Amino acid sequence: MTVASGASVPLWQQLQAVAQALVSVRRGVSGTAALEAVAPQLRPGVQALLFQVLRQLGRAQALRAKLAARSPAPLPDALLCTALALSWDDQGAPYAPHTLVNQAVEAAKKTRALQGQANFLNACLRRFLRERDALVLATDTDAQATWNHPSWWIQQVQQDHPQHWQDILRANNVAAPMTWRVNTQRISRDDLLARWQQDGLDAQEVGQQGLVLAQGRAVRDIPGFEEGLCSVQDAAAQCAAQLLLTGLPRSDQGLRILDACAAPGGKTAHLLEMLQDSDQVVALDIDAQRCERITQNLHRLGLKAEVRVADAAKPTTWWDGQLFDAVLLDAPCTASGIVRRHPDIRWLRRESDIAQLAAIQKQLLNTLWPVVRPGGRLLYCTCSVFKAEGDQQVKTFVEHNTDALLLPSLGHLRPQTVRVDPALADNLLGDHDGFYFALLEKKLAR
Ligand SMILES: C[S@@+](CC[C@H](N)C(=O)[O-])C[C@H]1O[C@@H](n2cnc3c(N)ncnc32)[C@H](O)[C@@H]1O
Repeated sequence: MTVASGASVPLWQQLQAVAQALVSVRRGVSGTAALEAVAPQLRPGVQALLFQVLRQLGRAQALRAKLAARSPAPLPDALLCTALALSWDDQGAPYAPHTLVNQAVEAAKKTRALQGQANFLNACLRRFLRERDALVLATDTDAQATWNHPSWWIQQVQQDHPQHWQDILRANNVAAPMTWRVNTQRISRDDLLARWQQDGLDAQEVGQQGLVLAQGRAVRDIPGFEEGLCSVQDAAAQCAAQLLLTGLPRSDQGLRILDACAAPGGKTAHLLEMLQDSDQVVALDIDAQRCERITQNLHRLGLKAEVRVADAAKPTTWWDGQLFDAVLLDAPCTASGIVRRHPDIRWLRRESDIAQLAAIQKQLLNTLWPVVRPGGRLLYCTCSVFKAEGDQQVKTFVEHNTDALLLPSLGHLRPQTVRVDPALADNLLGDHDGFYFALLEKKLAR
């Protein structure tokens, strides 16, 4: 039994690696880092299965609690939950449930640390196959099982979005498509789309400059990628540069823009694609390694910015005292809006992270506001659906800064996995992640 993306790798071997990766995520390691530890030839198949497991982990844990009175040690528990997550729902299951169970038991038998647990796993999973419908029904009353998010997260989304919490949680459980931003300075969206279609790629327009691919592909195989004609970027993230620059008054000296939390440089590149040669972008990030990624990304696109490793919250260490026409503050956040792309996030975050990150965002907002020139703008954004990192943050800021004017802004965008339907008024952008945008203007002194 093999998986398509894993070529001739047996399924039991993939399940072994998925269980190991799940143990790492449960210990607080990001999904990306956990997958880096997987052998390259196994990685694509293991990633696909791990992401599916993370999207069904709440249900799997609830089922495991019904099958085993005491929770097993981390590795057998992870293998048991992996098998349950992948087989509890016939409709979404990548393999027939009995195949998964057989292969999970095989994985236990072939893993030295699990051999003593193989009979226990076999007994649990056979019982699951016999009593599946009743067991699933018995877990239906558990919100964590139904929505596959931690309870505190479900409650927070209910509180912040009382009308739409179910839509948000549902969208989080659907894999996001691969979305691209067209570098319209170099090629029109129609022309790139035509090139893609000649190559057999099916894509749909999203937002002003985006294309959503019907099926993901390795980025290097996308026509125009190496030439710098397009970049991977979600449609919501593509709004940042457009919001900041559209209607920004220009002077003869050109614009001076600060991207305060810039790495890996997706929005820096978009700003530069929209700007003129006489304009200047300073891109800061506190993380030196991530700054290298800004430089690499700009290099591929043939763009230039002043990239600096710096703490944006300490302007005395990096600011020359010259005011900026516009500042982009894409602040560090819980990333609760991009869960459909990173299904590990919901299991990695703690409830206390919201307040901790909101405090950092507040500090960044307060320290960056003085570097904006009167009449200039600051775009505050986070890839979060939590109001403490969005509306509440900005409301408090405007209350305490009488020179700040909140311009018409997108506010909280909810994640949605949809094909564009112009009939839905609420669905202007089409498919996108959850995001928050507030555009602030600094009033001119009277
Ligand atoms: C949401 S990510 C930015 C994504 C980026 N704007 C893009 O579109 O590619 C937030 C970034 O903020 C950086 N960061 C966190 N605290 C910072 C600080 N005090 N000063 C500068 N950068 C910071 C992180 O290293 C991270 O790269």
